[in-house]
This record gives sequence, C-alpha cells and structure tokens, in this order.
Amino acid sequence: MKLPSGFFIDGKWLQPEGRKTEAVINPATLDTIGEVLCVEEKDVEKAIQSAQKALSSWRKIGGHERALYLRKIEKLIKERVDEYAKVLVRENGKSFAEAKGEILYGASYFDVYAGEAQRIKGEHYTISPDVEVRLSPEPIGVVAAITPWNFPQAMLARKMAAALAAGCTMVAKPDNQTPFSALLLAEICKDAGLPSGVFNVVTGDAPKIGKILMSSPTVKKMSFTGSTRVGKILAEQSAENLKKLSLELGGNAPFIVFEDADLEAAVEGAMASKYRNSGQTCVCTNRFFVHKSVSEKFIDLFAKKIEELKMGNGLEKDTKIGPLINKAACEKIEELVKDAKDKGATLTEVNLSTQEKGYFMSPKILKSVTKEARIFSEEIFGPVSAVYEFSTEEEAIKLANSTNYGLASYFFTKDAKRIHRVRDALAYGMVGVNHGRVSSAWAPFGGVKESGYGKEGGAQGLKEYQVEKMSMEKID
Ligand code: SIN
Repeated sequence: MKLPSGFFIDGKWLQPEGRKTEAVINPATLDTIGEVLCVEEKDVEKAIQSAQKALSSWRKIGGHERALYLRKIEKLIKERVDEYAKVLVRENGKSFAEAKGEILYGASYFDVYAGEAQRIKGEHYTISPDVEVRLSPEPIGVVAAITPWNFPQAMLARKMAAALAAGCTMVAKPDNQTPFSALLLAEICKDAGLPSGVFNVVTGDAPKIGKILMSSPTVKKMSFTGSTRVGKILAEQSAENLKKLSLELGGNAPFIVFEDADLEAAVEGAMASKYRNSGQTCVCTNRFFVHKSVSEKFIDLFAKKIEELKMGNGLEKDTKIGPLINKAACEKIEELVKDAKDKGATLTEVNLSTQEKGYFMSPKILKSVTKEARIFSEEIFGPVSAVYEFSTEEEAIKLANSTNYGLASYFFTKDAKRIHRVRDALAYGMVGVNHGRVSSAWAPFGGVKESGYGKEGGAQGLKEYQVEKMSMEKID
C-alpha cells in the first residue's frame, strides 16, 4: 500500500518545500520503507493554531456527536486492520499477529471513549438554603501527544480517543522510527470526516518539537509515553507555564513466582509479559523472582517454551518474535548481559535462527543474577530474562520494591491470603495477579514513582483531558 507522507494539519496533507527527511528502516530487513519529513518551527505552530481553531466547535458539539465520530474511526480501523498491521510490522518489526493485536487494541480505545463521551456529566448540589454548587467538566483545550515506537498505533489511539472524547483537539508527534501508523490514523480521521484541525500530526526531531509544544501557551496539556529520562525533561519544561502532564514512563517490572504457584500458569504469564514485542514494552518483566524451591523447575519449563518461539520477519507465517528496533538497542542489551555475567550471573542462550539480516537477538536467560548488576535496576527492553532466587515472601517483596520505577508488577500464587498481602505491598501502579497482562482499554493504565503519573484507559483516562469548573450560585 502507498504510505502517507507529510504533516497532517487542518485536515490536509502538507509537504512544504525544503524540509529535511529521514529514512524509515525496517528493523527486520534493514530496507528503507519510506521517508519521514522533519518539521520546522513554523509547521508546529501551524498545527497548534489549527487545533486551536477547531477547538471551539469541537468542544461545543457535545459528547454524543463526538462519540459518533469515534465510532466511525473505530469501524474504519477494524476494516483496514490487515493492511495497517503489515505497515506496522515493517516499521516496528513485531510479528503480524502482534501487529494486528495492536491495531485492534488501538481500536478498542475508540470503543471505550465513544461510550465515555456519551456519559460526560457534572454534579450539582446544595450547600446551604440559598447556595448551590455546580461542577462542570470541561475539555482542557488543545493537547499534545508524543508517542513511542514500541506501540506506535495503540499508544497514540489511547491518548487521541480520550482527548477527542473529552472535547479536546490534538497535535500528535510520533517517533521518527515508526511514523506511518500515526499517519495512517490521520488518514482514517480524514476518511471518517472528522472536522479539520481536530487531529493533527507533525513529524521530525523530537527534542525540537517537544520544546515548541511545551512552551506554547495554547497547548494546555502534554501526554507523553516514553523514557523516564525524557519524562523528567518534559516535567522541567512544564514549569514554564504549568502545563498539565500525563507521563507513562519506564518500568522495572518484578514477576514473583511463589512456591505454591501453578507453575504452568506462571510460565504462560511469563511468556506473555516477557516476550510481547520481543521484550520491548514498559510493562515487560524485567526481574523474575522465583522461590528457590521451584526455581529450577520454573526455568526449565520457561526455557522449553522459549525454544518454541519462531524468530524472524514479522510478515512470515508463524513468526512469534521479531527484531529489536535498532542497533543501539542490541548493543545496550549486550552490555547489560556482560555486566551481569561479570558480576556473577550465568547465561543460557536459546539459539533461534533467522535468515534475515536485521537487529535480531536470541532470547537469553540469566541465572543467579546479583542485585549489584545493572540489569537489576535498569530497564532491559529486550528478550533477556534475569532470574533471582528468594526464600521468603518478605524478601521477595523487598526485592521487588527495590527500584525507583513503579509501573507494572506480577505475581503468581494459589494462596488467597497471600494475594491480598502481596497486592497491597507492591509499590506499583499496576499488579497482574496470576496474570501476565495488565493492559486493556477498559482498565486505567499508569505508574507511580519514576514511572510517571496520570492514567490512560477506562473512565479515569477521560478525566486526564478535563478540568472541573466549580460555580457557586446564590439563589434567592
Ligand atoms: C508500553 O507502554 O510499553 C506498553 C503499553 C501497553 O501495554 O498498553
């Protein structure tokens, strides 16, 4: 299919003269699949102005009508899922099944927020015989979104669907390594007849665009998914005009397997949480804590499952695990593994082969990892499973919470009382209990500590794009 190119501003595709371009590389084949255009400051300003111009009528049309547009977008995404999934495979490298899953996951946010748009309501109550209070949720205004390469469609869809449902208009900036999924969402908006300017996309240099969006007084909120390092820069920049932020940042997810766990279920959960997107998600398990009495058996079962994975080009039938996003990602992981080995860990490599020449990395299991290893505290973002043994529940919780991150966590046990205790003790925004997944459009997603703040998904996700106006009314 022909890939869209240019900036999507005010309902039109723009390709201004003289802009730089960057090649978009397929990480499985290293072929160039297209070019991404890089904005200049005036292009970003134009996108912001377009969103501002569209705001007054979009916020006024009401939730019911906005829901109709969201439903149209959802329908078109579903109709084009196979076509769009192929583009996603080529820009990101994930398997076709996962890409299709991601596109439908993205579509589900339009479903959720079409519902939420229709339920927007305020409150009204009396505080004394002659005074009433009215609370009215209002859209915060023009919002910006900066989205990552690991889920280029779904992460944008969940910001966009919630923002548009609330009555906000948006300027989005996808990652330059994977711009096409976002541009295809823009194409859908055009085909759905979304009013011009409600959704705009600009592409190019991230720090430059981020700075312009953050310093603009017209942009009232920024929603960012990406690294904690960049999240902190945005938090600093937000001080200039006290812009509201939602930050979905890095993680260091623990996955605890207690001695009474159903080991088959734990291995299934481990596969889901570790190998989604070749290990490149913020909610991927980073540290496996396994009770010493079951650790050998768990690792054995886990390794057997990993051996069944087929690694290769995501467009090939049966591929389960694709390449990493780029060379730097492979190098960082090699460094982490070397460091863990130097500090006492033992390495088992599950050698999977592929004919492709891209950024492939076979899964690795590290055993007897020590707390001193960098991999204990740094996000891996790749197919490496670091396993640590523990003896008591208290020790497992202490190890799990020994991190500055607080996004996802997982544990497996059959003991009902332990479920309550451990769920309460884990200092994380999300907990998977006997489950290797925490992501769903119907549930609020978000972290604590240095994993950021703000929720995405569910009814809570809509509130991130609203301000509540209070009026105190004197009645005679
Ligand atoms: C991620 O942020 O990397 C994962 C997002 C999700 O599971 O929804």
